[in-house]
Amino acid sequence: MTSKYIYIVLTYFLLIFLVFDKYYPGSIRRDVPTEGEEGGRSTEIVDGTAQLLDSAVVNGGFSTVVPVLDPLAEFKSEYNINGTDRFEWYREQMFLKLNISETKTAHNISTLYAYEFEHEIAITTTSWRRIGHKMFCRYLDENNKEIGKPYESFTYPEYIVYCQKREGVKKIGLSVKWDPRGVQHFYLHIHNASNYDLKVINDYVRTGEVEVHYLLERDQRTDNHWHMVNIADCLIWSRGDSKWTIFADLDERIIMTNYTGTILDYLREIRNESVAGIQFRQQWVLKTELMPETYQGDLQIDAWMPTHRFHNSTGIGPELHTTKCIIDSTKVFDMWVHDVTEFFPGKGYFMKRLSPEEGLVRHYRDQSLGEWGKKWLNKTLRFGPLRKTDYPEKYRGKLTENVKRRAKYVYGNKYD
Ligand SMILES: *[C@@H]1O[C@H](CO)[C@@H](O)[C@H](O)[C@H]1NC(C)=O
Ligand SMILES: *[C@@H]1O[C@H](CO)[C@@H](O)[C@H](O)[C@H]1NC(C)=O
Ligand SMILES: *[C@@H]1O[C@H](CO)[C@@H](O)[C@H](O)[C@H]1NC(C)=O
Ligand SMILES: *[C@@H]1O[C@H](CO)[C@@H](O)[C@H](O)[C@H]1NC(C)=O
Ligand SMILES: *[C@@H]1O[C@H](CO)[C@@H](O)[C@H](O)[C@H]1NC(C)=O
Ligand SMILES: *[C@@H]1O[C@H](CO)[C@@H](O)[C@H](O)[C@H]1NC(C)=O
Ligand SMILES: *[C@@H]1O[C@H](CO)[C@@H](O)[C@H](O)[C@H]1NC(C)=O
Ligand SMILES: *[C@@H]1O[C@H](CO)[C@@H](O)[C@H](O)[C@H]1NC(C)=O
Repeated sequence: MTSKYIYIVLTYFLLIFLVFDKYYPGSIRRDVPTEGEEGGRSTEIVDGTAQLLDSAVVNGGFSTVVPVLDPLAEFKSEYNINGTDRFEWYREQMFLKLNISETKTAHNISTLYAYEFEHEIAITTTSWRRIGHKMFCRYLDENNKEIGKPYESFTYPEYIVYCQKREGVKKIGLSVKWDPRGVQHFYLHIHNASNYDLKVINDYVRTGEVEVHYLLERDQRTDNHWHMVNIADCLIWSRGDSKWTIFADLDERIIMTNYTGTILDYLREIRNESVAGIQFRQQWVLKTELMPETYQGDLQIDAWMPTHRFHNSTGIGPELHTTKCIIDSTKVFDMWVHDVTEFFPGKGYFMKRLSPEEGLVRHYRDQSLGEWGKKWLNKTLRFGPLRKTDYPEKYRGKLTENVKRRAKYVYGNKYD
């Protein structure tokens, strides 16, 4: 997520909420689409799809399968079609109608959405001229663990791939690759963003990793006063929907330092139900240049990703200075930028404060925006002299690869 193409999104004002362990409780979600509700979720699908561009045999990313909540009563169908196993029947139709005897190998397959039905999961794709191509459906459970062997299928009719259902499937894809990141979902507020920036946001919406709420000004406030709206809405939005929610900005990178697992591993190891959140202290990395306006290619990303480019860092802020939290929103009544204001009572809820040896926020803070360098840099120098630090080597390769893939997918198109 480090690229500017996500980053510039923030030009105006954006805060994001990254979510761990997004819940899909049973087959019922709070936001069951109701009549008249636009963009209801019954057909929502999701996915990490931007991993599309490698010339692997089949690629396409994973879509989260949100159960079709209340299949229309009249849409109960028989498993067999015309007396034949439905998947066999699809195959026969393909061979017959396309007059082919075997499927071809696909390249650059882009998935659109995935829909779960009574007898199958249907994935739609956008790739042109890929009809009658071989595809492998791959299934992931809620921990992103693969379920069983991939199921061989094909694109037929055009732009559609049918996959057999499997127990416990939360995500499905046509990809040979999957990046098991910890963060599964972003709640995003947009006050103002350019069309160029919206392209990448919309692509994350398409793949289900991002949900957006738009903010409309009717009170003549300055931008910073949107921050609390954003935090309040996110607290409620994520409550019961996600197990753990990060309240942080897009220019911040939370890392585990000497703890060897991922952030999600750390959270999963918390057994004490009274722990309502964990809190990280902050280190600023001075970002001294604005990002390029438009995408040019991989080399530009190598040069400009903040995690590659900026290293000049302050000391570490003290506890409660400008900390950032990951909380279980069901346990928090009132949230603030850096800490919980009030927990729900009676259960002994408390915040677990991490030492910098366990985890830390690296805040790639632009020095010119909001005149930060003039107003605040001096104050942070109290925490120690400036020093050179680096984003952890072990994550850099994967992060860069993901950023390049998504940026190329969204912005590297001759025809768009
Ligand atoms: C349905 O099954 C019949 C009998 O096997 C067959 O003749 C016919 O072609 C099938 N039609 C379709 C559309 O599959
Ligand atoms: C189907 O393909 C075969 C071999 O490619 C060809 O000989 C035949 O004419 C085709 N049939 C039709 C109806 O296009
Ligand atoms: C796949 O897409 C990439 C990037 O758009 C392109 O360079 C490559 O030629 C495509 N491969 C095929 C087989 O179409
Ligand atoms: C909204 O963003 C656009 C594009 O970044 C910018 O041109 C415009 O001035 C912004 N509008 C306001 C009200 O700030
Ligand atoms: C949870 O942690 C708190 C604070 O350390 C402690 O008082 C409490 O006994 C713990 N509860 C359990 C079940 O371990
Ligand atoms: C780090 O930032 C400070 C403050 O802007 C500057 O004086 C110093 O030269 C920078 N150090 C490096 C190595 O860029
Ligand atoms: C991590 O542990 C090593 C050795 O145990 C220590 O030298 C180092 O300072 C620690 N790093 C942090 C960030 O605490
Ligand atoms: C920062 O503090 C130093 C020493 O107190 C002072 O000389 C300098 O003018 C301050 N810089 C800014 C931008 O306030």
